[in-house]
Amino acid sequence: MKKTAIIFLVIICGIIFQVSGCSKANEEMFAARLCDTTAVQYSVDVVNILTANCYSCHGETTNAGSGGIILEGYTNLLQWADNGYLIGNITHAPGYVPMPYGGGKLSDCEISKIQAWIDQGTKNN
Ligand code: HEC
Repeated sequence: MKKTAIIFLVIICGIIFQVSGCSKANEEMFAARLCDTTAVQYSVDVVNILTANCYSCHGETTNAGSGGIILEGYTNLLQWADNGYLIGNITHAPGYVPMPYGGGKLSDCEISKIQAWIDQGTKNN
């Protein structure tokens, strides 16, 4: 009787472990599939992320809070992408002021998209 109970418990534990392990792996695969960085577009992906998180302080007419740093508009953003600040700031790299200023970090997917836009040649697409 006791032996059967122990065997039963071991099997149940095995099943729980298996199921939770699988769902974790699925979640990761799902997140990776959702974050599509294959063909990032400036006018869609980058602008959307910056509109939601950065233009309130770095817009063409809303930059007083950042001392006049404008990220709105392709040419304005390009210089900050080229000099490394854009990625340094959003990845909270050492030596850079973490952005969004005083706010939470961007999601991994948002950071990956901006990184991909840079890796794909900072195109005005
Ligand atoms: C609440 C206002 C605010 C928001 C939102 C904000 N910033 Fe900033 N940003 C600042 C301020 C203030 C500075 C100047 C910081 C300094 O020089 O100490 C700055 C500076 C910068 C600079 C210039 C380089 C530097 O480090 O001084 C870049 C690039 C930048 N921010 C990127 C971003 C990006 C990208 C986002 C959105 C993900 C963002 N910021 C969101 C306030 C903000």
